[in-house]
Amino acid sequence: MEKISILGFILAILYFITELACNGHTHVDNNVQSKQKALIDFNSGLKDPNNRLSSWKGSNYCYWKGISCENSTGFVISIDLHNPYPRENVYENWSSMNLSGEISPSLIKLKSLKYLDLSFNSFKAMPVPQFFGSLKNLIYLNLSSAGFSGSIPSNLRNLSSLQYLDLSSEYLDDIDFEYLYDIHSEYFNNLFVENIEWMTDLVSLKYLGMNYVNLSLVGSRWVEVANKLPSLTELHLGGCSLSSSFPSPTFVNLTSLAVIAINSNYFNSKFPEWLLNVSNLVSIDISDNQLHGRIPLGLGELPNLQYLDLSLNVNLRGSISQLLRKSWKKIEVLNLAQNELHGSIPSSIGNFCNLKYLDLSFNLLNGSLPEIIEGLETCSSKSPLPNLTELSLYYNQLMGKLPNWLGELKNLRALYLSSNKFEGPIPTSLWTLQHLEYLYLSRNELNGSLPDSIGQLSQLQGLGVSSNHMSGSLPYSIGQLSQLQCLYVSSNHLSGSLPDSIGQLSQLQDLDVSSNHLSGSLPDSIGQLSQLQELDVSSNHLSGSLSEQHFWKLSKLWYLRMDSNSFHLNVSPNWVPPFQVNDLDMGSCRLGPSFPAWL
Ligand SMILES: *[C@@H]1O[C@H](CO)[C@@H](O)[C@H](O)[C@H]1NC(C)=O
Ligand SMILES: *[C@@H]1O[C@H](CO)[C@@H](O)[C@H](O)[C@H]1NC(C)=O
Ligand SMILES: *[C@@H]1O[C@H](CO)[C@@H](O)[C@H](O)[C@H]1NC(C)=O
Ligand SMILES: *[C@@H]1O[C@H](CO)[C@@H](O)[C@H](O)[C@H]1NC(C)=O
Ligand SMILES: *[C@@H]1O[C@H](CO)[C@@H](O)[C@H](O)[C@H]1NC(C)=O
Ligand SMILES: *[C@@H]1O[C@H](CO)[C@@H](O)[C@H](O)[C@H]1NC(C)=O
Ligand SMILES: *[C@@H]1O[C@H](CO)[C@@H](O)[C@H](O)[C@H]1NC(C)=O
Ligand SMILES: *[C@@H]1O[C@H](CO)[C@@H](O)[C@H](O)[C@H]1NC(C)=O
Ligand SMILES: *[C@@H]1O[C@H](CO)[C@@H](O)[C@H](O)[C@H]1NC(C)=O
Ligand SMILES: *[C@@H]1O[C@H](CO)[C@@H](O)[C@H](O)[C@H]1NC(C)=O
Ligand SMILES: *[C@@H]1O[C@H](CO)[C@@H](O)[C@H](O)[C@H]1NC(C)=O
Repeated sequence: MEKISILGFILAILYFITELACNGHTHVDNNVQSKQKALIDFNSGLKDPNNRLSSWKGSNYCYWKGISCENSTGFVISIDLHNPYPRENVYENWSSMNLSGEISPSLIKLKSLKYLDLSFNSFKAMPVPQFFGSLKNLIYLNLSSAGFSGSIPSNLRNLSSLQYLDLSSEYLDDIDFEYLYDIHSEYFNNLFVENIEWMTDLVSLKYLGMNYVNLSLVGSRWVEVANKLPSLTELHLGGCSLSSSFPSPTFVNLTSLAVIAINSNYFNSKFPEWLLNVSNLVSIDISDNQLHGRIPLGLGELPNLQYLDLSLNVNLRGSISQLLRKSWKKIEVLNLAQNELHGSIPSSIGNFCNLKYLDLSFNLLNGSLPEIIEGLETCSSKSPLPNLTELSLYYNQLMGKLPNWLGELKNLRALYLSSNKFEGPIPTSLWTLQHLEYLYLSRNELNGSLPDSIGQLSQLQGLGVSSNHMSGSLPYSIGQLSQLQCLYVSSNHLSGSLPDSIGQLSQLQDLDVSSNHLSGSLPDSIGQLSQLQELDVSSNHLSGSLSEQHFWKLSKLWYLRMDSNSFHLNVSPNWVPPFQVNDLDMGSCRLGPSFPAWL
């Protein structure tokens, strides 16, 4: 500290006796000119179709967009040209504002440069410039998703002050990554590492991001290398083509490690028990690998763990009741989906005061949910699981009645219980959950009816109770669910008519009421559902005429099934429907002779 401030003082004096570049003084010395020239050379190599760097003119380079200087000296300390519009809307506005072109070695002249961010631009398969290894004062280097390719140069070993190194390609988990990669490959990094030993020279490294950098040639050496970086806090090696096992280091050095994300690789060993020695761990993601064997109970004793994702390993085993009896003191996200967890969920689950997200779907859980859960005393809010927003238990073998405490999870936004063997009625308490957005209970043995109080769920976007034994009629109040996008109630014993109020569901995209005992006519108001894409009313006892009004605003419809009812079509012969369906079955045999061309 002392040294830095003395240095600062000397620099400040130098500044007064030489130059006030950023304060608009007229005299410009060689030093400033050379920095300015370095930046202008850098700029002239870049292609900037959107004129992002239009402010890069005049002598006050400290005020150019993306440039920061040390105020006292006018030294350039930061160049931040990350794309401000990364892939927000990947299909429509893909990587607008991107920079490309050459990266001039003139940057070497900026001897004080500490921070360089070129992320999310498109340098079109350019290799990472070797000269970056000469930017010796760099603390932060972000080249993520900027279109670099080839081998990461071992020259970077000279960056002994580097604390943040991000060479990741972005992780696109909700869209078709391969499709995008094909059409936009120049915007992704396509990097690999042959030999990773040089990285042990990056002694200041706190953050290493190399998602989707191909490390297949490195083998398991990455463990020893990471173990030699004394300050390493975050390690992101998702999708790096790492395989086989990760050997335990002889002695676990990684005392600072808080985040390890090594998801989407090909590890096919047991869970790396040595991670349990890293007591600072806050977040572990080893999802989407091929781990097998037991999930160690010790994970539940890691004192700082907030985030654990071991989903999609398929062969990880464990007893859920043993696991959840551990303390999990700070856990907020627990995702163990798509494994081989067995047993039943213990009442101690209520004690997870900070839990926000629990996903145990696609496992072998059985037994019934505990009737009562603990937690009333433990959590400061005096309610069990006070922070839970998403609970996912679908595709298990859970049975018995749905317990009333589900309706006490006041912050719940999503409840997924489909594909189990739950029976009996849906607890009335569920219809009081004000924040509920998704309620999926399909493919169980539930009975009873949907109550009027369903209209209170003002945030509901998706409701699924298909393939159960529900009876009664669809309540009129369903029309109050103004956010509802998907309504699936097929394959039940619902009777009565479809309420006219259904036409008020202005956001509705999917409506499936097929295979019930619904009768009466199809309400005209259906024709108002301008967002509707899929409509299935087949296999009911519906009747009456289908007029042009029933289809009035359905311009987005692409799937339509109305067969196995007793409708008769009553539209003029030259009527052109507002939609083009790809998949259509209106039950031709029952529609009568006036069979329009579009069927
Ligand atoms: C440098 O000066 C600018 C403008 O006067 C100010 O916004 C900024 O916070 C200062 N930076 C530092 C590191 O003092
Ligand atoms: C598309 O990019 C422009 C900048 O070119 C930005 O102003 C706009 O907000 C972006 N739109 C979307 C939908 O991302
Ligand atoms: C990205 O930059 C390249 C090269 O300048 C340009 O051809 C491309 O159109 C840009 N992409 C977008 C979405 O603006
Ligand atoms: C790295 O440092 C070594 C020793 O200081 C030096 O010989 C070498 O030229 C440097 N490499 C780069 C790319 O600056
Ligand atoms: C690198 O830049 C990307 C996009 O600008 C950002 O999301 C990421 O957090 C940055 N990495 C680090 C280590 O700051
Ligand atoms: C990674 O590199 C190896 C060896 O060069 C290659 O066989 C493999 O296909 C690469 N993986 C990916 C995902 O590109
Ligand atoms: C532990 O880290 C230090 C550097 O901090 C290194 O010298 C030592 O070799 C490391 N130990 C192991 C077993 O890797
Ligand atoms: C982990 O810690 C235990 C003691 O708690 C120790 O016996 C063991 O050697 C450690 N393992 C490693 C790989 O450091
Ligand atoms: C959990 O909820 C309580 C209040 O219900 C709140 O004080 C606390 O900050 C929440 N914890 C987390 C991790 O969000
Ligand atoms: C749950 O499955 C196990 C086998 O994994 C079986 O032994 C046990 O009886 C089952 N329990 C219930 C309540 O069905
Ligand atoms: C619902 O199913 C349970 C058995 O799971 C049965 O006892 C009850 O009578 C059924 N209720 C209705 C309304 O069908």
